[in-house]
Amino acid sequence: MANAEFFADIFPADFWDRIDRTKLIEDRHSFFGDAEVFEWLIRTTRPEVIVELGSWKGHSANYMADVCRQQGLNTKIICVDTFNGSAEHWHDPGMRAEMHLTNGRPTILERFMGNTVARGNTDHVFPLPLDGKTAAALFRMYELRADLIFIDAGHEYEMVRDDIRAYWPLLSERGVMFGDDYQMWMTAVAAHDVAKELNVPVMVAMRKWIYMTPALQQAMLPPGSQIRTQFDGWEIQHHFGDPEHTAKVVADYRGRVPM
Ligand SMILES: C[S@@+](CC[C@H](N)C(=O)[O-])C[C@H]1O[C@@H](n2cnc3c(N)ncnc32)[C@H](O)[C@@H]1O
Repeated sequence: MANAEFFADIFPADFWDRIDRTKLIEDRHSFFGDAEVFEWLIRTTRPEVIVELGSWKGHSANYMADVCRQQGLNTKIICVDTFNGSAEHWHDPGMRAEMHLTNGRPTILERFMGNTVARGNTDHVFPLPLDGKTAAALFRMYELRADLIFIDAGHEYEMVRDDIRAYWPLLSERGVMFGDDYQMWMTAVAAHDVAKELNVPVMVAMRKWIYMTPALQQAMLPPGSQIRTQFDGWEIQHHFGDPEHTAKVVADYRGRVPM
């Protein structure tokens, strides 16, 4: 009921019909990677609701939507983002250009929406243009629960730590939380520090940290993933799970989103 109430109020059935499509822009710039980890997590959890914190131009969200559709799932993906960029995007000249400022404001939301419409995912993907803390407060008011939560907003230690702490209570019982950029030590150490507080082991697959919740413990631990008790470095794992399946997922992804 809590989730139904949230969607009825915030993303009613005509949400996308009310968007002025003449203002939307398609834009391929993306931070998305490790498609096979997303695919595996969606197959494992079969989520009804996904919360993504940090969406940029929507490529990770739209990839998840594509996988959900392939799996016959009617998943709704709530994308929390200020759509105003992170500190590092404002600092780096190349990234600043990627925000395409108009009247002093990034046009990331227009690009997120343009990509979502172009990919045919308006039944699945819903942008919530709030900062992570405000969105978490809103979710608490509705007692919203998500089956999969992906953390990919600010990458400073305190930001990652606080995001995990704020979003962990929103997970459903069978839910799984994961996050990007384990290769960045601040992200990895924050993921390990909060895992200790919560008493959950950390699984590492490619660049993703994943909290081993009971839902995952019941599933097979795929080859190519590791359980870590502390951060002791990172090196890329070039495939995840069954190599043949991984190659198929990657080829399929490349076919849909030219890189
Ligand atoms: C690395 S990008 C996300 C990339 C995206 N997941 C993908 O794979 O394409 C980080 C995003 O986090 C957003 N962000 C940073 N700090 C935030 C905050 N406190 N609340 C909400 N969004 C935030 C930025 O606007 C940016 O779009």
